[in-house]
This record gives sequence, C-alpha cells and structure tokens, in this order.
Amino acid sequence: MRKTYSTTAGTTQVIVECEGLGSTGRYLTAIDAMPKPDRAVLVTDETVGPLYGATLSDSLAKVGIEVHDYRIPPGEASKSLQALGQLYTFFAQCRLARDGLVIALGGGVVSDLAGLAAATWMRGVPFAILPTTLEAQIDAAIGGKTAVNIPEGKNLVGVFYQPALVLIDPSCLETLDPRDVRAGLAESVKHAVITSADFLSWHETNAEAMVALHRPTITELVERNVGIKIGIVQRDPLERTGERMTLNFGHTIGHAIEACCGYSLRHGECVALGMLAVCRLSRLMGLLSDSAVDRVEALLERLDLPTRWATTVPFDRIMEVIVQDKKSRGSRVQWVLLEDFGRTRITSDVDETLIREAYQSIVETPRP
Ligand SMILES: NC(=O)c1ccc[n+]([C@@H]2O[C@H](COP(=O)([O-])OP(=O)(O)OC[C@H]3O[C@@H](n4cnc5c(N)ncnc54)[C@H](O)[C@@H]3O)[C@@H](O)[C@H]2O)c1
Ligand SMILES: [Zn+2]
Repeated sequence: MRKTYSTTAGTTQVIVECEGLGSTGRYLTAIDAMPKPDRAVLVTDETVGPLYGATLSDSLAKVGIEVHDYRIPPGEASKSLQALGQLYTFFAQCRLARDGLVIALGGGVVSDLAGLAAATWMRGVPFAILPTTLEAQIDAAIGGKTAVNIPEGKNLVGVFYQPALVLIDPSCLETLDPRDVRAGLAESVKHAVITSADFLSWHETNAEAMVALHRPTITELVERNVGIKIGIVQRDPLERTGERMTLNFGHTIGHAIEACCGYSLRHGECVALGMLAVCRLSRLMGLLSDSAVDRVEALLERLDLPTRWATTVPFDRIMEVIVQDKKSRGSRVQWVLLEDFGRTRITSDVDETLIREAYQSIVETPRP
C-alpha cells in the first residue's frame, strides 16, 4: 500500500510493506518534495536498535546517507523534557541541519520524542517514522502528533508535525511480546467500532489470524487502520471539528485506569476495558443495543484482552483522575458514546450514576 496525505502540518507518504525496512533508503531518496539528506540521526530504543538498527543503517548507507545512532532506554519515562534536551545535544554534536533527517525506529515512545525534536530543531528538520509496534503502526505514526510528558500530565508538551515518510513493515511485529500485539489490536477494534460495522465483522472473522500475526491478515489489518486514521486526520487535522475526538473512544476511562494501575496493564488493555465500559454506558443511556455490547465483549475476549479489572480502585478515584486530567488541559470531560457500529455521539452531558454503574460492570473486587 502507498498513500500520500496532506494536512496543514505537512505532507506524508505512507508505505505498508512486509520486509520493507531494508528499502528505506530507496524510498527516502524517491520523495520529490525532500532533497536527499546527507546525514540522518537514527533515534531508536535499546530493545529495537539491536533488532532492526543494522538493516535500516545498511539501507541508508547504500544511498549515501551518513547515519548517527541514538538509543534511548525503552519505556514511557523516555518521553521527557530531559530526554528531549539530551537529544538536542546529540543533534548539535552531529551537526544536524535542515538538509539532514531525523528517523524514528520503534514504538510510539520513540516517534513522539523524536518527532518533537525534529519539529523544533532549527525550527523543523525532515522526519521519518519506521513504527515497530502495532500501536505505532496503526495509531501513533499517523496524524502528526508529537509530544513529551511533564509531571503535571501526559503529552502536555508537543506540536503537530507531519513526517515526510512513514514506512510500516508489519514483519517487525513478529519480535514483539504477544501481549503488546494484543494490546495494539485493541486500537484496531476501536477504529472498527467507531467507523465501520463491516470492519468489525472482519475482526470477528479474522481474530485468530490477527493474534497469530498471519502476514496477509496483519498487513490488511494495518492497511485498513492506516486508511481509517488518515481519513479522520485529514478531515480534522488539528482536532477542531470533533471528528478526531472520536478516536478517544474508550480512552477517557481507559486513561484513568492506566494512571491508577501502576503500569500493571498495557495501554491497549486499559483501552479494551474503557471501550467495554463506555459501551455499557451507552447502553445504560438507551443509545446502544445489548447485542452490540455483547459483540464487543466477545471480540475482546477472543483477542485475549481484559473485559474485567480485578482492582480495589474505587469509582470516585477514577472520576477524580478523569476530571483532573481535563483540568490540566483546560477542557471539560467529553464522552465519546456509541449509538451503533460506525456511529458515535460526543457529549459532556452524562449522569455520573450511570458512569459509576458502567465502571462497576468492568470491575471485580479481588478476594482478600
Ligand atoms: N502520537 C500519537 O498520535 C500517539 C498515538 C498513540 C500513542 N502514542 C504514544 O505512544 C506511546 C506508546 O507507544 P507503544 O505502545 O508503541 O509503546 P513503546 O514505544 O513503549 O513500545 C513498547 C515496547 O515494545 C518494544 N518494542 C517496540 N518494537 C518492538 C519490536 N518490533 N520487537 C520487540 N520489541 C519491540 C519497545 O522497546 C518497548 O519496550 C505512548 O507514549 C503514547 O502516548 C502516541
Ligand atoms: Zn490509544
């Protein structure tokens, strides 16, 4: 698959190709809008670098691009102002200028950090993403959002900046922890639920093949998700019309669970719980049918994603986190509800007793 999309933040060529990583140099030099870079800073993490760094560096060297390697410790803690500062220092040491390039090889942590660095270094140098997690391939790499975290909240410092190239190689997913694959699949379920009953049925037909990373199936899954995200981003590039907000489906409660679980759950697992809770909330508000809620629950179960959270975290704490998060962002809590597959409704007018009931439905209190 090859697709070019443009927003006010720039133009991006997206390529999905199994084992395409080794062709990166060739694809980069073929982008008309970007002069051939003389050097590139390759930003990756200490897990992904040893797996795929050499293939990528070789392909860049073949087309005469000098590569400077930069590795960060894996994990969310690397999305910090301190890590950003260290990366700027490295850029200076490599004499990276506007005719250079920043390449992110890794998951969303790497691409969010490297993207912000690329966007702000000398007011913007060309940027490319080679996403290696499912989360990054179907979500973080598309849409031009970059960010780091500060103690007051996640992703509070960032800009919109489009990479010139996003090269997605689904074969890279084969070295991922299977739990990370399933967590990424939760975002695919989210895209299906909010945009298309047909894509939801496709998930039901292909659930086992997806989990097993059957190459044609996972490639089709990535391509369809990329198409959906590009469509939404193009119609609402800067989150102004509300359409892009539908991508927060399942994330309001999901993020609160993530903040309260002490990193015992993956982001996608929290989103799975959040999606089920908000489906139940939509049901309690009389918007969604029982059978639709049951279908989402059954699919999440088949993908081995959580549908129950064993916790003692009370509802009031979850609500506190939700409200506090919105306060830091200067906005009100907006709920993305579901009316049917492919039909969402955004509202801030939701009765808290129903949110409580929906939350209780996904919680089981562990026995002492
Ligand atoms: N910019 C956006 O629009 C956007 C969207 C969604 C998420 N995000 C951000 O993305 C981040 C999460 O990204 P993520 O889920 O990709 O996690 P991640 O980047 O932390 O990667 C997860 C783990 O997988 C390892 N890994 C990555 N690729 C691998 C591979 N192919 N084989 C083996 N191990 C591999 C990493 O080293 C890491 O330990 C969050 O910070 C989130 O805020 C951004
Ligand atoms: Zn998400």
